[in-house]
Amino acid sequence: MSKVSIIGVGAVGTSCAYCLAQKGLVNEIVLLDIKPGIAEGRALDMRQAAAIQRFDTNVVGVTDDYTVTAHSDIVVVTSGMSRKPGMTRNDLIRTNAAIVKSVVSQVAQYSPEAIILMVSNPLDVLCYCAHLVSKFPKNRVMGMSGLLDIARYKSFISEKLHVSTKDIHALILGGHGNTMVPMPRYTTIGGIPLRQWMEKAEIDEVIDRTRMGGDELINLLGTSAWHAAGAAICEMIEAIVCDQKRVFPVCSYLTGEYGLNDIFIGVPTVLGAGGVERVIELELDQEDSIRFYESEKVVKQNVELLKAMMAQL
Ligand code: 2OP
Repeated sequence: MSKVSIIGVGAVGTSCAYCLAQKGLVNEIVLLDIKPGIAEGRALDMRQAAAIQRFDTNVVGVTDDYTVTAHSDIVVVTSGMSRKPGMTRNDLIRTNAAIVKSVVSQVAQYSPEAIILMVSNPLDVLCYCAHLVSKFPKNRVMGMSGLLDIARYKSFISEKLHVSTKDIHALILGGHGNTMVPMPRYTTIGGIPLRQWMEKAEIDEVIDRTRMGGDELINLLGTSAWHAAGAAICEMIEAIVCDQKRVFPVCSYLTGEYGLNDIFIGVPTVLGAGGVERVIELELDQEDSIRFYESEKVVKQNVELLKAMMAQL
């Protein structure tokens, strides 16, 4: 059984914690937040919910005390400002990189063997920040974004076709931003390619809505969404803790795959007890290839901004 710490218990951290606690996959969840009392309160509430929902996971809350997170197997980092209407994920780089730098240095100190699962935005850039600060091997730093983007893509397909999301298999590549690359060529419903279910114009509509999926929610909610993100993080933790070798789109560090080096970006990845166990290289057709490398260019530019800022943070 494992210990998972969740740093930052805003809506996403809380949603992930509750999903994980209910599944009973780990024996201890530590919630940590800098705002006094919040993590303790969330943990207390969950322990009381446990009496109704009948789970035994021990949920503990602390205010900014990393000693309690010591020897975690997985540390989820959701800390940082969330987007408000009109902001791009990249508007958050400086503020959130400073937060992530401080969080990850303490995570690395108290849980040197942990797997770090990044969630804060801009996701791809902050994975890179966590990699620089922790100096952990590449299999032990990753980011959650693709599973969330795929969940949105599947739900839009399901709404249009009136089919269960359970039977939709799909893939999304690239950065977690409006340049992400949903892949209709690798999307099937009950084994039948998406292109046999929908006309190109309809597929394009779904793709555009998926790319703007986070913005659509921010405009409705006034802040970023949490249920699907929390569920997606929980699914990745399950794959790692139970060594499931699931194949998910994960923001993984590339060392030559897709001809790219020294970058975190969303790619199909085998997730198991070792964290990122394998990155899968796909053959991209011309259109997908143009989109993927456009997305990579945007991530790379922002990583350069981050590198220039790192010393002053
Ligand atoms: C989302 O896509 C904010 O990145 C987060 O909902």
